[in-house]
Amino acid sequence: MRRWTQCVRRGFHSATAIDWRAFPRDEVTNVPARLEREWFGRRLLQEPDHPLARAKTRMVRHLGIECFEALPPVVSLYDNFDSLLIPATHVSRSPNDTYYVNRRHVLRTHTSAHQRQLLRSGPASWLACGDVFRRDEIDASHFPVFHQIDGGRVFGEGVTAREAEEDLKGTLEGLMRKLFGASTQLRWRDDFFPFTSPSFELDVMFNGEWLEILGCGLIHEDIMQDTPSIRGRQGWAFGIGLERLAMVLYQIKDIRVFWSRDERFWKQFRGRPLEAPIAFEEFSKFPKTSRDVSFWTNSEAFHENQFFEMVREVCGDLVEAVVRLDTFRHPK
Ligand code: DAH
Repeated sequence: MRRWTQCVRRGFHSATAIDWRAFPRDEVTNVPARLEREWFGRRLLQEPDHPLARAKTRMVRHLGIECFEALPPVVSLYDNFDSLLIPATHVSRSPNDTYYVNRRHVLRTHTSAHQRQLLRSGPASWLACGDVFRRDEIDASHFPVFHQIDGGRVFGEGVTAREAEEDLKGTLEGLMRKLFGASTQLRWRDDFFPFTSPSFELDVMFNGEWLEILGCGLIHEDIMQDTPSIRGRQGWAFGIGLERLAMVLYQIKDIRVFWSRDERFWKQFRGRPLEAPIAFEEFSKFPKTSRDVSFWTNSEAFHENQFFEMVREVCGDLVEAVVRLDTFRHPK
């Protein structure tokens, strides 16, 4: 057990490609080449200026709990699903939703996939963060690769479920107030996860809206039962999506921007103090181009505003400026 803990502490999952020799492809492999080529192993959480890494670091510092950042993203089906009591028929196992490396291994769909090993390797509390993968369309709020941070704590003997629940809620309320401000309104709701019981969700009031920020609960008795050293004790766990959080904290409207290599993205975050309130300013995804358009009109009634309006009607804000360069009147 000790050996495993040491190896996950060292280096960051340094692979930039899936080791297909260790995990040979088979008939269920459905990892697209583009995922491996462009997103796998980008290690955005290890770029200290990156908004996702900022959100992570603020949480880790506030909680003061060791964060495992090097856990390998290819995990067994057992760790990703079975060990968390996710039923064999659960939709999340479908190859339409999950990337199968092969019959026995998937790209983790959540950082909870490491919970079993972390429980076994013995820290009393832990954080685990990393990239997670779900087959999804790509638009302003969906991307097939995103990031999570999971946390867990196991109590000593004699701690009751009620005490563990209070500790969980107190810890997460403190964390949210640290991130969103001391007077932030919070709301607890009952939820369901197969691996926690009871399960809760925490909502944060932000700009007049309730945002679902995290899921959590007391670690299911059957999971605790599975590990001899912690049998019969209480423990809690939570999971937070980092994109969601960073989008709110830094006013980022499009999830795709986290993958940007554009200087106009990076320069807004680079070198700023960790707690600095940063309001991200969007920039055009397209390179700047100019077009000259010439046309004839025989109407004296034509006014350039008619043309300007038509351009705006069709192109919206994509067009930076429409300018009349000159007018030519044919002598005949
Ligand atoms: N793994 C869950 C998800 O991806 C989030 C989560 C919920 C993690 C509850 C936990 C937990 O550790 O206790 O949606």
